Amino acid sequence: MPPTTDLPLLCPVCSAPLTYTAAEPPKPGRLACAARHSFDAARQGYFNLLVGKGTAFKADSAAMVDARFNFLSRGHYRPLAQAVAAAVVPVLSGDRPAVLDSGTGTGHYLRELLDTAAAHGRTVSAAGLDISKFALRRAARLNPEAMNLVWDIWQPLPLAANSVDVVTVIFAPRNAAEFARVLRPGGRLVVVTPREGHLAGIAALAGMLAIEEGKDARLAAAMARHFEVEESSDVDIPLALNREDAAALAFMGPAGHHTDRDAIVARLSGIPEPLRVEAKFRLTVFRPRLPDGT
Ligand SMILES: C[S@@+](CC[C@H](N)C(=O)[O-])C[C@H]1O[C@@H](n2cnc3c(N)ncnc32)[C@H](O)[C@@H]1O
Ligand SMILES: [Zn+2]
Repeated sequence: MPPTTDLPLLCPVCSAPLTYTAAEPPKPGRLACAARHSFDAARQGYFNLLVGKGTAFKADSAAMVDARFNFLSRGHYRPLAQAVAAAVVPVLSGDRPAVLDSGTGTGHYLRELLDTAAAHGRTVSAAGLDISKFALRRAARLNPEAMNLVWDIWQPLPLAANSVDVVTVIFAPRNAAEFARVLRPGGRLVVVTPREGHLAGIAALAGMLAIEEGKDARLAAAMARHFEVEESSDVDIPLALNREDAAALAFMGPAGHHTDRDAIVARLSGIPEPLRVEAKFRLTVFRPRLPDGT
């Protein structure tokens, strides 16, 4: 399935519009601008738009991405994916609504969203953006109809202004100014964050990082210049995990950057199954502020 071609993508070099040209498989499709800056799709179907030296960011490793993919595939966080889709679908407007999933990871939440929209008779043009090419290999296979783009969220997004109905950000960094720029008037930003006490039962056991104190307040302040909260709801999911899933859960998060997977497995060995913990999320829907600050 070729990716959506009607999203107004911008060239990362000169900001001119990018046009997609499909190719006969196994040749990759191509994005190119009028000035002939061009980007071939990777074999798996995603595009790497990062040019130059790239970024200093430490992207999730292939092993962390695999752990995330496997954990999510087992459906543990499905109620969250359903809650995100339920928040997004009513906001979609026009004949061809568009969604940007920023920090899409393996594309799990975008998949649920596209399926839910389709069940409501809506075909969505989607872009999934992430700095990890390992994640996008997965996302491109799961969501072949989406434009999956390797990009750094802290650089101007390769999307035209006023081009998407909804931006979703699930446990990923937020560039509020850029999200406000790419959203259409009347668009919404849907953000999911963990709440205090998230996975408390196994966090210490598995060497997971605690949620930073004061993080909520800092994020709210960063968002407030461009957005106001429309509504916020809690999504709590009781989990009964075997040790393998618990280890995957620990390893797929920030702990995976500095803890060996084997070390996590060793810490959990001998703990009786199932491990019962609660995932605690907050889903917040933001509305862009009008230019006069109201
Ligand atoms: C905790 S994961 C969440 C992924 C996905 N939304 C999910 O919930 O399954 C955070 C994601 O943000 C991505 N990310 C982190 N910093 C980024 C940046 N500067 N630009 C783009 N993506 C970034 C990571 O590569 C990772 O896939
Ligand atoms: Zn160009």
